[in-house]
Formats: sequence, C-alpha cells, structure tokens
Amino acid sequence: MAQLSKTSLSYYLSEYLADLQRAGVQDVWRGDDVKSEEPPTTARRQSVQTSPSATEPAPTPASAPQPPRSSSASDGAVRASQGDDRVAQLQTIAAEVAKCELCPELVSNRTQTVFGVGNPYSELVFIGEGPGAEEDLRGEPFVGRSGKLLTDMIEKGMGLSRSDVFICNVVRCRPPGNRNPAESEARACRPFLDATLDVVRPKFVCCLGAVAATNLLGVNESMSRLRGNVYEYKGAQVVCTYHPAYLLRNPAAKKDAWQDLQLLMKLMGLELPSRRR
Ligand code: URA
Repeated sequence: MAQLSKTSLSYYLSEYLADLQRAGVQDVWRGDDVKSEEPPTTARRQSVQTSPSATEPAPTPASAPQPPRSSSASDGAVRASQGDDRVAQLQTIAAEVAKCELCPELVSNRTQTVFGVGNPYSELVFIGEGPGAEEDLRGEPFVGRSGKLLTDMIEKGMGLSRSDVFICNVVRCRPPGNRNPAESEARACRPFLDATLDVVRPKFVCCLGAVAATNLLGVNESMSRLRGNVYEYKGAQVVCTYHPAYLLRNPAAKKDAWQDLQLLMKLMGLELPSRRR
C-alpha cells in the first residue's frame, strides 16, 4: 500500500490506529481495495414522524454524560483482528481521495483533502457540505466555528463524545470562498462518500444542511420540508437538520435543530437530557 501523507489522514484515524497497535493488532495497514462505485441507492422516506416537541433549546448541557454508544478503540481492535479492519479500509480510501484530481478548481485551491474523522465503528455518521478554510488548513472536518457548534450539539445536546461518531462531508476539498459544492463536484466525490458509508455501515446518518441532504437522498427539497422525517439510505435511518453555519447565522433555528436531534436520539434509543440524572 502506498505511504500516506500524515497531513492527508485525520487525526482521530491516526489515534485509532495507534490504539489498535497498542492493543496488539498486527498488520493494521492491510487494507482492502477501495470499494467499487455503486450507483446511488434511491433514498426513500421510511416513515413520516412529526417532530418531537421542543422543550429545551439546543445545546443543553448533559449533567451526567451517558456511556458512549459506539465501539471503543479496544472493541475496534478486536473487530480488526476478526477481519473487520475499518481503519485500514478508510485509510485506503483516504489515500485515493488525497490523489484525486477530478475537480480542477478545487484541486488548484486546496491545501489538502479533508477525508473524515471519528470512530469508524460508530453507529452514527454526520455528513456536512464541504471543508471550509480552517478545515482545509487542518485536514479535519468541522474544526472551525461551525465545528465548535457541531461538537456542542453532539456532546452537550446528545450526550455523546465527538470522537464516538464519524464526521465527513459531501465533498472532500474546500470549495473556494466557501461556496456550495457544484453538482459536478458532488457527483465526482460521491464514490468516496459511498465508500466511506460502506465501510462504517452506520445505523444512523444525520445530514447537516440541504446540500448534504439533497445530495445523499437524491431529493430536491428545502430543509424545512426535509426535517422531521426519517429517510433510509443503504440500511441507515437518516434525519436531516440545519447546517451549523446556518444556525450560527440564524440562532432562532436552534430550537428546530434541537427537535431534530431529539428525533435522532429517539431513534438511537438515547436518553433525552431531561431524563438524564
Ligand atoms: N462546513 C461543512 O459543511 N463541513 C466542514 O467540514 C466544515 C464546515
């Protein structure tokens, strides 16, 4: 396997790899080939649910954090030793992403590609739009102001840890000037998104913003119509909410985003903060 540039790998994947090595898993660099491109599965609405009532604005501090619902690094080590080595598989995809030159404007403006971050054994994946300036510099998604809000939504709102979920974007290079990714760019990057989901195999996906939702689900609807429903994509239950950058510009929408997170938590069987001790 080709040597990977350190900067092209997410910090947490590197950490995870170190955990696996510490746990004594041999040959962690062995990776399966990048999954072949599959035609996007048509998303279908799984069920229509009315939004749960918003009793508290997001984010709400969790007084007693719940134990993580995702596998720990040592669980991951066991699964890797059983042949389910998702770190190696994601690193193989990340290496392909780092070499990708399909979108000339993005390639000529990027500092580096931004693959994804988090626990590859997580049951929850968040999908954003594309890296911003800070993400482009640091090589990790959602590390700027929107990232801080997303982390609060995950940790203070949902009572999970950021490192227990997996976070990625529709496109893996920064669209200059923080513009939305062009349709052609989203299409070019789609095999990487699908390959990532094929490896992580989440049970739940949260689309952050209309760009993520419309691209993943293949629908052309506004967020106000998409939110409050549960969709299905590749076996995962999908909910949609406002992008953190939108919430920073429109704080009044945070209560809607909190409703969406509560819907997600209900699906995941997570306790709502009011019930946490
Ligand atoms: N906005 C996104 O959609 N993704 C990021 O990684 C950062 C900001």
